[in-house]
Amino acid sequence: MNKLRNRELLHGGDYNPEQWLDRPDILEEDIRLMKKAGVNVVTLGVFSWSILEPKEGVYQFAWLEEIMDNLYQNGIHTILATPSGAKPVWLDEKYPEALRVDEWGRRRHHGVRHNHCITSPAFRKKIGEMDRLLAKRFKDHPGLLLWHISNELGGACYCPLCQKRFQEYLEQTYGTIEHLNKAWWTVFWSHQYQRFDQVEPPFANGEGSIMGLNLAWKRFTTWNMADYLRWEKDILKEITPGIPVTTNFMKLYPGLDYRVLAKELDVISWDSYPRYHNDYESLYDTCIENAFDHAVMRSMKKDRPFLLMESVPGAVNWHDYNKVKRPGMHKLAAIQAAALGSDSVQYFQWRKSRGSFEQYHGAVVDHLGREDTRIFQETAETGRVLAALKDVAGSVVKAKAAVVFDWDNRWAIQDMKGLSQKKKEYEKTCMNFYKLFLELGVETDVISREDSFSTYDVVAAPMLYLLGEDTARKLKEYVAGGGQLLCTYLTGYVDKDTLCYLGGFPGDGLKELFGLYSEEMDTFYPSDKNQVRFLDGSLGEVRDFAEILKLSGAEPVGVYIHDFYAGTAAVTRSQYEKGSAWYVGARLDEGTMKRLLRELCQEAGITIREIPGNGEYHVRENGEARFHFLLNYGEETIKFQDVRGMELLTGEVAEGELLVKPMEAAVVLEKKQLAKGEDR
Ligand code: GAL
Repeated sequence: MNKLRNRELLHGGDYNPEQWLDRPDILEEDIRLMKKAGVNVVTLGVFSWSILEPKEGVYQFAWLEEIMDNLYQNGIHTILATPSGAKPVWLDEKYPEALRVDEWGRRRHHGVRHNHCITSPAFRKKIGEMDRLLAKRFKDHPGLLLWHISNELGGACYCPLCQKRFQEYLEQTYGTIEHLNKAWWTVFWSHQYQRFDQVEPPFANGEGSIMGLNLAWKRFTTWNMADYLRWEKDILKEITPGIPVTTNFMKLYPGLDYRVLAKELDVISWDSYPRYHNDYESLYDTCIENAFDHAVMRSMKKDRPFLLMESVPGAVNWHDYNKVKRPGMHKLAAIQAAALGSDSVQYFQWRKSRGSFEQYHGAVVDHLGREDTRIFQETAETGRVLAALKDVAGSVVKAKAAVVFDWDNRWAIQDMKGLSQKKKEYEKTCMNFYKLFLELGVETDVISREDSFSTYDVVAAPMLYLLGEDTARKLKEYVAGGGQLLCTYLTGYVDKDTLCYLGGFPGDGLKELFGLYSEEMDTFYPSDKNQVRFLDGSLGEVRDFAEILKLSGAEPVGVYIHDFYAGTAAVTRSQYEKGSAWYVGARLDEGTMKRLLRELCQEAGITIREIPGNGEYHVRENGEARFHFLLNYGEETIKFQDVRGMELLTGEVAEGELLVKPMEAAVVLEKKQLAKGEDR
């Protein structure tokens, strides 16, 4: 069913020929240049609605068919978008209900993009008609590889239709208004509702003080967006069941729980635009943050590759400072995407537009129109690299460790009134755990609290403030079965509706798992300091948060050494049936956390492979082979140890040590049979 599986790696990008229909010379040149750049796929039609349907009910698809034919004849496949990312003026004029309403209750005027009401029956009907016709017209086109639904779904609509749908969703979820009032603790400040139709979304100038409401609105927005996505998908699937479906995600976009949307998709794809070469962190840190984002995407469908749908070969136009990628960065970023499990490297955009909002956004082909530019040449070089890595296509990354990074939890932490609003840093904390695992050479997935933990030897679930109905039970089962689990300060404070657990945190049975409860949480001013002394005498630095713990079975592994809680446990470990549950009550410095994670991994029997500074290492595998990816973001050559096999970019054979130059990467093929032979 999946036409995408086990092909070559895809290389291409968003192509907007509709902007150049009056320039056949340019369209012809595009094909010539695409072939030169090693492009084998383009994404068409993302913002083409006003050309595809210039007047209501008047459709013009011939130009698109001609372009797709021409591309296909030249070896280039098409990812075909549905055009719901931006609507034509006639639609807004005739169906004003399709215009989104913002959090102040203001209806938008026509214009810009990503601004349709996702509930509006009129909008759904119009896009439904469009999708049905597109699918019928192109269902047998040999170049059609994948459907790309809409573009970067996001935002929320507060119109009367969405409000009503929200109220229906709440009634379905909570059953009775009494139940909702209890779950949201609305008696506080006299906020009880009498009927579901009184519940408004959290308008900017309305109700914002009920944490349960705020979270329910986010969940509803995700639910409604998933419903919208399914609406478009079902139409496409009815006509083209064999064509897989994706939509492009945006990094860790906070407005939607991507894991819910992912269930509607055959393939995960996303758009990556890191701020390379910035002045506030090292290139290594920028790239590892990007690795985390890739891992989040990959982990939504672990059994198959994901796609890098957009990236830029030069500079974007929307960062605070739009710095161009330095020589070599583009190729390195492309190899990184492949290393993390992507089967594609694609760009926004193939050719720069002449006017409007993105006329200065980077592209493979500049306004210059030449092929001898640095960016074109680096893109072509990337095309050659991806061709050399052809056999990687279809292989997957298998992780031994997981970091739990959960959207509901993220929303709940963000919204909680407590600690320090500035220092909660949930995303950064999860990212740091991920980075430390990578530095220990431990491949790591990034999962939600609803995913299964059982396939991992080690699970780190930092700041797991919100527990869902099943989370505590799953964590206990995981440890009982022999898992190594690490949780931290702020674990298990609230239930799925953000009601605090009574009788001590962590709630919901986790006190028994960790053998402790937390009596107080201390929040530090930036100049406050404390330290933890470990059993071996080593010291760790505490920053931002320190929980004061009371033990009821856990063994202390480290104790605070200052302040009124000096001598009490800061880090503990508790044996629970076959596994161990570690609790780190304070935010600790990176070096200390790395030591702890190393110990956990060793206990779990994972082989540690310390990765040299500024280096990154990943393995993808299939039935026959392992592909070892070794990357260097630093200014010195890196010596990677224990690498054996053929390097696919140079054809050289590595027999133990491999040198990787600054801003370069190596990909070493290890045949699986060979490894068995060696064992014998
Ligand atoms: C993406 C979007 C593209 C383009 C690009 C610019 O977020 O999907 O259409 O706007 O950003 O970086």
